Amino acid sequence: MSQSQLDQIKTNALKAFSDAQNSQELYNCKVQFLGKSGALTEAMKLMAALPKEEKPAFGKLVNEVKVELEAAYEKAESALKSREIDSKMLEEKLDLSFSVSSQEQGKEHPIYKVTNEIFSIMARLGYSLRTGPLIEKDYYNFEALNIPPNHPARDMQDTFFVDDTHVLRTHTSPIQIHSLETEKLPLRIIGTGPVFRVDSDISHLPNFHQIEGMCVDSQVSMSDLKGTISFFVKEFFGPGLKTRFRPSFFPFTEPSAEVDCSCPICKSKGCSLCKHTGWIEIGGCGLINPKVFEHAKVEYPKWQGFAFGFGVERMAIIKYGVDDIRHFPANDVRFLKQF
Ligand code: DAH
Repeated sequence: MSQSQLDQIKTNALKAFSDAQNSQELYNCKVQFLGKSGALTEAMKLMAALPKEEKPAFGKLVNEVKVELEAAYEKAESALKSREIDSKMLEEKLDLSFSVSSQEQGKEHPIYKVTNEIFSIMARLGYSLRTGPLIEKDYYNFEALNIPPNHPARDMQDTFFVDDTHVLRTHTSPIQIHSLETEKLPLRIIGTGPVFRVDSDISHLPNFHQIEGMCVDSQVSMSDLKGTISFFVKEFFGPGLKTRFRPSFFPFTEPSAEVDCSCPICKSKGCSLCKHTGWIEIGGCGLINPKVFEHAKVEYPKWQGFAFGFGVERMAIIKYGVDDIRHFPANDVRFLKQF
């Protein structure tokens, strides 16, 4: 390899670098001249065959060419890049007068909005969130909640059966049992999620949502329950609403009550939503029946508790004055947009 050959490589490389039309072409030239098997590397290898005294001078020469070519490559690369950016900017000019069809924007579903609002209110009272399986063992959905086989209370909850021992949960109350069985006491939880019943009309869905509250501590009374629920109702629906507790029956609470709130739509004057009574039922509650503690192997009266269960759709209907529960699963954006 002679100096003139080396000069030829250099000239070719410099021309190739300046002729390259884009970054990819330029990179290919770099590989061709400076790469592992490139022309310059091959020239270095030939050095081995030179007489010993010529080696240092030739090596120096090759190195000088290498440094020069590398600098030329970098210069060409930055020139190409800025050329590419310039042409991209020219191509991608924004036409601000161009009109586009408007995009529909997604929104949180009102059921999730209401559920989240309920959580944040109850979190302020020290409650934390739980969920549970949608397919429940008969034991958790009924028996552990003091609803034995053939008990008439099973008729209150028209059940979807999965097989002989499993059901689609008819309420969120089984979450109480899962927590009592597995968690450390004292305990304040809010359970939530879909529940299922064979039922469908203007005010019932086969798949709706419930919110379950449970507080277990060393001394829990009916007045704790009333205070908690009254606070919750006021925070959720707004101040000025009244809460009313009517004696009722649930197998898993004793005593039990149904909770009504004064109608927020007509301010208790009477309207179609409250069926002209001034009151709307929002759910059930009571002190946890000692039989439930017994099933969950929780010591009573060392531990006592209250529980409550509300329908989420119902709370949304009352808060927003929705006229048909079937709007919720229909997912019509004209309905969903209003929340
Ligand atoms: N699980 C009941 C139902 O779905 C509602 C309920 C009533 C839940 C009383 C409770 C309660 O926790 O204490 O009809």
